[in-house]
Amino acid sequence: MPTTVCLIPGDGIGPEVAEAARRVVEATGLAINWLELPAGAASVETHGDVLPPETVEAISAHGVALKGPVTTPIGEGFTSVNVQLRKRLNLYAAVRPVRSMPGVRTRYDNVEVVVVRENTEGLYSGIENEIVPGIVQSLKIATRPACERIARFAFDYARARGRRKVTVFHKANIMKKSDGLFLDCARNVHEMEAPDLDYEEMIIDNGCMQLVRDPGQFDVLLLENLYGDVVSDLCAGLVGGLGVVPGSNIGDDCAVFEAVHGSAPDIAGQDLANPLALIMSAVMMLNHLGETAAADRIKFAYDAVLEEGGPEERTRDIGGTAGTRAFTDAIIQRMG
Ligand code: NAI
Repeated sequence: MPTTVCLIPGDGIGPEVAEAARRVVEATGLAINWLELPAGAASVETHGDVLPPETVEAISAHGVALKGPVTTPIGEGFTSVNVQLRKRLNLYAAVRPVRSMPGVRTRYDNVEVVVVRENTEGLYSGIENEIVPGIVQSLKIATRPACERIARFAFDYARARGRRKVTVFHKANIMKKSDGLFLDCARNVHEMEAPDLDYEEMIIDNGCMQLVRDPGQFDVLLLENLYGDVVSDLCAGLVGGLGVVPGSNIGDDCAVFEAVHGSAPDIAGQDLANPLALIMSAVMMLNHLGETAAADRIKFAYDAVLEEGGPEERTRDIGGTAGTRAFTDAIIQRMG
């Protein structure tokens, strides 16, 4: 029986990188039934809705999706599709493994961090009011069940993957209630359920400085929603940029795999996008589906291209001259 995987091409560079990831997965020979679904700005034109109900229903029914980035208007317009999707499907944990890539030259070669981001609350609640003209408020939501759930997820994740330490970045010196609750839950879960793992807390401004100064000191990072968003991109910058950082959004019933990067309208449609972040997200997806041999084959192939290949086999963002398709071809070729 082929496995059904929902595929959301998305906006901007989304269709280009989604096509690349699909080709690479197909090259493993796995029997996958791709169910292409609309979402994002492009979907408004074709379906009159940024997130048509059929898209949410299909992911809910099949339990797994590979998603390209989608564009969100700034300062006006519709609520982010990503925020809606994460809330509607209760995808409460974002997991972004960030590692130094072989053959991608950066300031560090020892980054091996996993960002675990709470995906449903915080300032992403999107509750904003204009009290009177010129005065607005934005509510940051934190609830004990959601904070406990993400803390438990982070410690469980760390233990399952042989990680040693969970570090919480917070700003509980200023947001004593909301970040205070997040910290309280992390401390309790550590004490009651994961005393075998190391645990530390850092005020986020210092945490960011420590990350760029000495990223090797960190293992699993646990953050509330907005901090997780920002720190994910910071971590991407440590290992070669947004083109090499994958991600997943995990819930109890389904999972959506997507790169950390956005729709990159500045390079869309020009065969310039690095497809690797979404290909790496597809590898995470295959591992999630239990297809570890296929996942390893893809990982081995892109590591080999980066380690041994010349500039004509990698995209510009990581020092090469190749287009999206040529880089994808090089990976498929290495899969033998
Ligand atoms: P972005 O991540 O799209 O781009 C930031 C910079 O990185 C740009 O210079 C872009 O060219 C480059 N870049 C990103 N991905 C790349 C790739 N695969 N290969 C090569 N270069 C790459 O962030 P930006 O410009 O702030 O946001 C653009 C749109 O994307 C916005 O509408 C935003 O809301 C949306 N977005 C969507 C996300 C998602 O769907 N998961 C995540 C982040 C942003």
